[in-house]
Amino acid sequence: MKKEISHCVVMKESKTLVAFFTKGGATEEYANIIAETLTENGLLVETCNLKNDIPDIAVFDTIILGAGVRMSMVYRRWKKILRQKAIKDKHLYLFLSSGMAADEPDKAVGKYLHPLVEKYGLKPDSLVSFPGKVPEKWAKDENIQKVTMNLDLAKKWAEKIARHVQS
Ligand SMILES: Cc1cc2nc3c(=O)[nH]c(=O)nc-3n(C[C@H](O)[C@H](O)[C@H](O)COP(=O)(O)O)c2cc1C
Repeated sequence: MKKEISHCVVMKESKTLVAFFTKGGATEEYANIIAETLTENGLLVETCNLKNDIPDIAVFDTIILGAGVRMSMVYRRWKKILRQKAIKDKHLYLFLSSGMAADEPDKAVGKYLHPLVEKYGLKPDSLVSFPGKVPEKWAKDENIQKVTMNLDLAKKWAEKIARHVQS
């Protein structure tokens, strides 16, 4: 089996990992604002794009993982990190970028994230779904809202995480 080489720089003093998998870019934007907000609040944060690397999570205390969804499937590569045994000993926060979350964020969490939490036996401290990007093809329909992303939601979520981790 091919061994994956680590591209994500993991510094010894880092305690918090923000890792994401994206196809359209929304999850990366949310991951960046989350990492930025946690850093502003005094946490030592590493950000990792799972496209290049699946990092070893053992060194982190807090793990924030995000992915997008297409055709009712959360991106498969993201699930590799969910399978690591050490994940069960961590403070875990999961977020999703989805079209459904523009109108029904709780429904998106129930449909896409809860089954994965069950499947991998995870105990996340929080699960959220942020509104993702509207695909160009769909945006041509004039009845469809063109801009749905809301970075402020992710910023507020990260502020809560920072308070929780530091309490
Ligand atoms: C081909 C395609 C299929 C999609 N299918 C779904 C879906 O089944 N459910 C949903 O909630 N959103 C769906 N979306 C919206 C995506 O979740 C949204 O674009 C999100 O931003 C994806 O995350 P990413 O930009 O980080 O890749 C779909 C988008 C595309 C382009």
